[in-house]
Amino acid sequence: MTDKEKQLFEEILAYLKIERDVYGDFYPASDRSTTDPLKQCSTLEELKALCENSDVLKTDLEGTNLVFGVGNPNADLMLIGEAPGYHEDQQGEPFVGRAGQLLNKILAAIHFKREEVYIANILKHRPPKNRDPKPEERERSLPFLERQIELINPKLLLCLGRISATTLLSRDDSLKNMRGQFHPYLGRLLMVTYHPAALLRNPQWKRPAWEDVQLLREKYDELTGDH
Ligand code: URA
Repeated sequence: MTDKEKQLFEEILAYLKIERDVYGDFYPASDRSTTDPLKQCSTLEELKALCENSDVLKTDLEGTNLVFGVGNPNADLMLIGEAPGYHEDQQGEPFVGRAGQLLNKILAAIHFKREEVYIANILKHRPPKNRDPKPEERERSLPFLERQIELINPKLLLCLGRISATTLLSRDDSLKNMRGQFHPYLGRLLMVTYHPAALLRNPQWKRPAWEDVQLLREKYDELTGDH
């Protein structure tokens, strides 16, 4: 086997291991729609119940709560952060700490009420010491988040921070390169901007973030006929 073949083999093996972790067994792709527990969830409540019982979503921090997501189940705009922190874990709701308060202000500045949009994270459990989600944790969570997106069916997505954007777009790039434009994502449009926690640490990024969310609001109005 050449080195390239070996690498490909290892990548396929790693992928199959994730499949087995998520689905409990290997299923031929053609059988997915009838046997896939995710596809069988036809409501957010069913998906939430599946998540409650899915150990694959957990991080190595024990005893954490599920932080499924919050907001309008029919939202046209869905926001995706990175992972719950201490307060989110305690309250079972995304973005309720300091970063969440800034997020509420950003939403209000572009005339959205928090209840009008839907907010979720790449991970549904808190990582220890708020470390970055590991690639394998992101891969295991992604099918659950993708089903959540399908069920909510938003027209627009806003990724908060690089981790969220690189996970959804399957692209390893800098936030600067990805922000400020709309990316096609499964028949929808996706905008990327700075994570509110990064804005708290780097106020000089508030201006470009403001430009991003104004573009987002314009696109939202265009797509939904709102004004
Ligand atoms: N940061 C995130 O990415 N998500 C949260 O829910 C809270 C803080």
